[in-house]
Amino acid sequence: MSSQLAEAARRPPTSITLVVNGEPHQIDSPDSNKTLLAYLRETLCLTGTKEGCAEGDCGACTVVVTERHGNGTRSRAVNACIQLLATLHGKEVTTVEGLAGRDGSLHPVQQAMVDCHASQCGFCTPGIVMSLHALTTSTPNPTRTQVECALAGNLCRCTGYRPIVDAALQADAGGENGNCSSAWTQKDACPRGLEEAARGRVALDHPARRYWAPETLGEFADLRAVHPDAVVLAGGTDLGLTITKKRQDLPALLYIGRVAELRRIAFSKTHLEIGAAATLTDVFEPLVDHFPELAEWARRFASPPIRNVGTLGGNIGNGSPIGDSMPVLMTLGTSLVLRCGPERREIPLDEFYTGYQRNVLVPGEFIESIRVPLRVAGSRLGAYKISKRFDQDISAVCAAFSIRVDGGRVAHAKIAFGGMAAVPKRALHCEAALMGEIWSNDAVHAGMRALTQDFQPIDDMRATKGYRQLVAQNLLYKFLLETTTAGRISVVTSEV
Ligand SMILES: Cc1cc2nc3c(=O)[nH]c(=O)nc-3n(C[C@H](O)[C@H](O)[C@H](O)COP(=O)(O)OP(=O)(O)OC[C@H]3O[C@@H](n4cnc5c(N)ncnc54)[C@H](O)[C@@H]3O)c2cc1C
Ligand code: FES
Ligand code: FES
Repeated sequence: MSSQLAEAARRPPTSITLVVNGEPHQIDSPDSNKTLLAYLRETLCLTGTKEGCAEGDCGACTVVVTERHGNGTRSRAVNACIQLLATLHGKEVTTVEGLAGRDGSLHPVQQAMVDCHASQCGFCTPGIVMSLHALTTSTPNPTRTQVECALAGNLCRCTGYRPIVDAALQADAGGENGNCSSAWTQKDACPRGLEEAARGRVALDHPARRYWAPETLGEFADLRAVHPDAVVLAGGTDLGLTITKKRQDLPALLYIGRVAELRRIAFSKTHLEIGAAATLTDVFEPLVDHFPELAEWARRFASPPIRNVGTLGGNIGNGSPIGDSMPVLMTLGTSLVLRCGPERREIPLDEFYTGYQRNVLVPGEFIESIRVPLRVAGSRLGAYKISKRFDQDISAVCAAFSIRVDGGRVAHAKIAFGGMAAVPKRALHCEAALMGEIWSNDAVHAGMRALTQDFQPIDDMRATKGYRQLVAQNLLYKFLLETTTAGRISVVTSEV
C-alpha cells in the first residue's frame, strides 16, 4: 500500500453509508443536524413517511431500522423525525415504500389493513404499518396486549383503533423473515457487507458543524476530553427536539451509539451494570426481569420507537425533573460511573443533580455506566406514573418506593419522586418518618405529612401544585395497600 493510501485508510471517513429499501447510499459530509425524515422526504423523495408532530409523539414518521446484533441482525421501529441521519451509518432503513413485493403484492400487514378497513384519511397509516411490520417480524402471532404496546407511539385521529388492532391480529408476516415477500426480507442488500464498509471512526467535516462517532471507549473518552464543548449525542430523543422544535443548531456532536462497550449490560454478583449508551428497550428487559414490579412503569415510558433509540444515560444526562428513570433508580440505590479521559469516579445518583437540568459533570466528563444494586431479599418496590394519558405521555408525578420490613418495622426506606421539584429527588423527611416504625396506616400517614416538608411542587400545564402534593401522598398510601393486606382504605381527599 502506498503511503498516501495508508494515510487515507487511517483517516476517519468523512462520508456515511446506509441502505434504504435495499439501495446503498453514500452521503459525503452530511449535515449532522439533518434528520432521517428530511433525507427520506426531501432528498430521496420517499414521501410515504409522513411528518406530523416532528417530536416523536405521533408515529406518522415511523420507519424500521435494521442493524447488526450479535451474529445476526435486529430490526426495530424508529421515529425518523428526530433520528439524526448521521447516526444511521452502517444501518439499513426500510420505509413504507420498501414493504410491498416487487410484483406489487402488498405486505401482509398492508393487506390486513385493507381487509379490516383500518385506514380512512391515511395520514397515520404508513407509520402504523411500519410499527406493525416491526412487531410481526420479531413476534409471530402477537397478542392483543403486544399489539397495543407496539402501537403506543402511533396516533390515529380518524379511524379508531379497533380495526387497526384487528388488522394487526390478522396479519401474519410469519415472524422473523417468514412468509413475507417484501424487499426487506429478501435481504438482497446485505447489512453485513454494509457494516464492513462502515467500520471505523467517523468524523464529518461539514463546513458549519462537526460530528464525531468513535467506535471504542478509549477514543470516545479522549474526544470528549479534547472537545468538552461538543454535545454528547445518544439516541437523540431529547436532543433531536432542539433541532426540530426549538430550531436551534447543534454545532458539535459526539455520538456515543457506536461504542459497543457503552451499550453493554451485564449482571455481576452485586449489581446490574448498564452501559450509558444501552437503549431503554435493551435496559428494561433485564431490569424488569429482576424487578417485576417495574413492568407497568417500563411499558409506560415513552413508546417503543422512542425506547428503541433513547438511552438510560440520555435520560439521566438530560436530567429533566419529570424524567421517569431517576426516581426509580434512586430508590434502588443506583450509582453512576463518571469518566473524564482515563479517570473514573463513582457517585450515588441522588448526588448527581445540582439544580434544574444541572449536574456535577465537569467539562470533558460523561456518564460511562449506571450501576443498579441487585434486589435485597425481602424488599418491596413500587413505581407509579401519573399522567393524563396511559401511553406515551409525560409524567405529572412519578413516584418510586422501596422498603424492607423486618419484624413488622421498617428497616429500610428509599422514596423518590419526579415532577415534585426542579430535580428528581429523594423524599428524605418522608423516609425518616417511616424508618423504625410499624409499616401501618399510622406510619404512612406520618410519611404523607412529611412529604409536605420534602416538596413544594409548582403549578404547570400538567398539574397544579395541590394536585401534585395530594397525588404524591396518595401514592404512598397506595403502596402501603399494595404491600399489606391489612391497610384500611381511606384515600386522602385533602392535604394531610
Ligand atoms: C415522544 C417522547 C416521549 C418521551 N417519553 C418519555 C417518558 O415517558 N419518560 C421520560 O423520562 N422521558 C421521556 N422522553 C424523553 C427521552 O426519550 C428520554 O429522556 C431518553 O432517555 C433520552 O435518551 P437519549 O439517548 O435519546 O438522549 P439524547 O437526546 O441523546 O441526550 C439527552 C441529554 O443527555 C446527554 N447525554 C446523553 N448521554 C450522555 C452520557 N453518556 N453522559 C453525559 N451526558 C449524556 C446529552 O448530551 C443530552 O444533553 C420522551 C421523549 C419523546 C420525544
Ligand atoms: S412526525 Fe410525529 S413522531 Fe415523527
Ligand atoms: S386514518 Fe386518519 S389519522 Fe389514522
